[in-house]
Formats: sequence, C-alpha cells, structure tokens
Amino acid sequence: MSDPYFQQLFADRIGGANYGKGTEIYKFEKIKRAKRKALADHPERKLIDFGIGENDEMAPESVRQVMAAEINKTENRGYADNGIAAFKEAVARFMQRMFGVSLDATTEINHCIGSKTALAMIPACFINPGDVTLMTVPGYPVAGTHTRYYGGEVFRLPLLAENDFLPDLAAIPEDILRRTKLLVLNYPNSPTGKVATKEFYAEVVEFAKKHNIVVIQDAAHTVLTFDGEPLSFLSVPGAKDVGVEIHSLSKGFDMIGWRIGWVCGNPLLVQAFSDVKDNCDSGQFIAVQKAAAAALDDESIPGRTREKYQRRLTKLVSMLKRCGFECEMPGGTYFLYTKSPKGVVGGPTFDSGEAASQYLITEHSICTVPWDDAGAFLRFSVTYVAADEAAEDALMAETESRLKEIQLQF
Ligand SMILES: Cc1ncc(COP(=O)(O)O)c(C=O)c1O
Repeated sequence: MSDPYFQQLFADRIGGANYGKGTEIYKFEKIKRAKRKALADHPERKLIDFGIGENDEMAPESVRQVMAAEINKTENRGYADNGIAAFKEAVARFMQRMFGVSLDATTEINHCIGSKTALAMIPACFINPGDVTLMTVPGYPVAGTHTRYYGGEVFRLPLLAENDFLPDLAAIPEDILRRTKLLVLNYPNSPTGKVATKEFYAEVVEFAKKHNIVVIQDAAHTVLTFDGEPLSFLSVPGAKDVGVEIHSLSKGFDMIGWRIGWVCGNPLLVQAFSDVKDNCDSGQFIAVQKAAAAALDDESIPGRTREKYQRRLTKLVSMLKRCGFECEMPGGTYFLYTKSPKGVVGGPTFDSGEAASQYLITEHSICTVPWDDAGAFLRFSVTYVAADEAAEDALMAETESRLKEIQLQF
C-alpha cells in the first residue's frame, strides 16, 4: 500500500516522514500485551496487577454530590478560561493548612486540566532551540518531551540509591548549565518513592539563583507522603523567587479522571503559564472546579487516602522481603521501587528489569512495571483492586506463595 500524500508532512518531532512506520513497542504497550497473553494462556490463574498507576477508588461521595449538584446549574455552563476564583481560594486555604505556604489566590495560583497538561505547557514559556531542561530519571517524561518539541535538549539527572534518589546537582557540566533554563523535580518521587528534604530544597534554591534556572517541582503525589509531614518546595525560603510547584487532585483525592490540578508560586511564572494555557485550552468545566474546591476544603480526605495506601505498602514491603526482595517502606507515592531480581534458581537469568518483569507476567501472571534508566528496578503499585483489608491480605498471600515457589535470585 502506498503512503498517503501527507506521509511526508509529519513534523520531525514525531518522526517526520517515518511517522507510524516504527516497530518499536513502548514499555506500557508491552506490558498490556503481556497481560492479555497471560490471561489468554492461563485463564485459571488470577492476574495479580501491581502495574496499574491509577487510584482504584472513585472520588469521595461528598465530592461526587457537589459535582452532581453543580452540573445542573446554568452558571457553570460556559468557558472557564483561566479558572474561577472559588477554586483558587480553596487552593490558597489548602496550601496554607497543609504546608504553611501563603499564596495570593489571584496572582500566584492558576488551575490546570491535570498536572500533565501543565508540565506539557511550561516548556512553551521558556524553551527556544538549544535550551536545556534538566530532568530526573527515572521519571515522568512529559516536560522533557515538550522541551524537545520546541527544539530544546534534555539533560538527564540519574536518581541513584547511593545518593538517596536525589539528583547530584554538582555533577552537571558547566557547558550544560550555561544553556539550562529549567530544572524539573518531582517529590514525592515517582517511581522511586523518595521524598525531598528541606535541606535539599534549600540547595535547589541556591543552585537555581546561582545558575539562573527556573525550578518546576511536580508535587502530583504530595498528599501521599508517609515519611514525615508533606513538604512543599514553596515552604523553603527563596523558593517563590525561583519557581513554581504543580499540584494535582488525581492521586491524593481519588480524582484521577476528573482532570484538575494547579500551578502555584512565583506570580510572573504563574502568569506566563496562564498565558500559554489560555492559548491551549478554555479551562476545566466549572462544576469540576467547584467539586475540587469542596474536596480541598475537606480535611478528612488526604488523611484517608494516605492511610489506605500506606497500609497497603506496609503489607507489600514485608511480603516482598519474605520473598527475598531488598526493599523498604517508600517515603511517598503509591509505588514501591525495588531492585530487580537477577534470575531464577535453575532457570532463566535477567539482564534488565524489563526481562524480569516480562518473566513475572508471562510465567506467573504477576504484573509489575520495569525501570532500567538508572539500574534495573521493578515498580510495584498498590493501586490494585481489593474491596477490603481481607481482600488485600488474600492478594498478598497469593503473591507470596507464587513468588516463593519461583525462587528468585538477587
Ligand atoms: C510524577 C507525576 N506527575 C504528574 C502526573 C500527572 O498527573 P495528573 O495529570 O493526573 O495530575 C503523574 C501521573 O501519573 C505522575 O506520576
């Protein structure tokens, strides 16, 4: 079949004239295919899914009730543009209550249709061809992808266990620093589960000022902090001079499909984001913003979500340790990031996290997500569906019996 006339028209950023012709399969597609195969080959074996990265519960009933009422109001029908004051004011109250951070609701906060879209838009504010964005790896790649779309470059900062999964800012070469405009951080970190410290954030502020760099701290998982109190980058002196923090209701409020979050911090940076956003979308449905404001004002929700995922992670960590994994309770997120096994006694060896993950799903119907960017690791998510604690315990027992039978080597 011949190519359509527009095959030659695709932009280089998505592959140019070769767009759609590649045979490379992306990690998450590979996992989906392996899951389908495991289900087809072994219908008798329950698929144990530690792969999903999405909350297993609906938003709290109180929030759904606000949504149900607001959806019927005429005044909520139109374009929301850069957002309603009621949402921004609820954010300001939340940031004060949760982190002790004071923000001006009109100039220092703007909503976004999920933090993903904010991360996609911010490079448009800064990146000209040749400019550099510093991105931690492994990590959520969206800001890096858009940096490249604008002709910029990504410089990867590996997150290593020996550095407590914090980037080594001192190791960045001078010629890179001269061209760097953005530093993208994410704490609590996905997938490593590490939380940042005040000392690290203070170092980041100094680094940003010294090298004229803007800091974008992705706080999507912040409500799920188990190691100490949740910490905002903006609570550190000087942070508001150098950056913004991006928050989301997806994870901490079980509102993953509702698509609502916010960018907050330095007013000129928030303004630049809002200007780009205004040229990309027309704002989240006002009913969603009002329901989200009600969620933010309900002090009981973050504690409940945190407690549930902390409980599930505690059970997972002790079970995996009994099966030979070297792991400890993560500081935050609903992910456990642990060294991948090297093989199976008397069986195959694994040269990567991906090989181990493929073996576990195809041979034992246990789904995990591999990360090989900075060492071979597996990520276990505790967002599996389990109706109650007894169901969680049964799932742990089944996983333990399968893993012990395999005799993994580390
Ligand atoms: C680190 C991180 N940042 C941002 C996001 C995007 O979240 P949302 O767009 O739902 O706010 C995710 C979602 O998986 C994430 O893990």
